[in-house]
Amino acid sequence: MAPITGPLSGTDKATVAEALQGALVDLVDLSLVAKQAHWNVVGPHFRSIHLQLDELVALAREHADTIAERAVALGVNPDGRSATIAGNTAIHQPENGWIEDGKVIATVTDILEGVGKRLRERIAATDEADPVTQDLLIAVAQDVEKQHWMFQAQR
Ligand SMILES: [Fe+2]
Repeated sequence: MAPITGPLSGTDKATVAEALQGALVDLVDLSLVAKQAHWNVVGPHFRSIHLQLDELVALAREHADTIAERAVALGVNPDGRSATIAGNTAIHQPENGWIEDGKVIATVTDILEGVGKRLRERIAATDEADPVTQDLLIAVAQDVEKQHWMFQAQR
């Protein structure tokens, strides 16, 4: 018997578990990639991008926590282990070392586009299974798409 039970079971629970775990992997890795860029960015726009990236890190971390805790509330174990993130992320990893500011903007814009697309797939997948989870995913997508705009606008 699981110590935590929730309102979902069967295929609905499995569908929602998959959507939440996928979003968790995306958000944790987004926070890691954004920190990597925060540290390694160079160029004339260093200051603004350096600071903007930390806003993105904070947002990704906060949403990752919300998503993970939604899973727990449904009796699903979130898996945020480093090996799980590394093995399942769909985010293209930037090269190690200095990253020119223009490249950071292009890379982060692309990453946010991908994360946003996958969030919309998860929003569609959870429509019937659990509108409460869907609502959380919609809130995350709103912020991710806003960040996408704000990075894309600097291209
Ligand atoms: Fe910092």
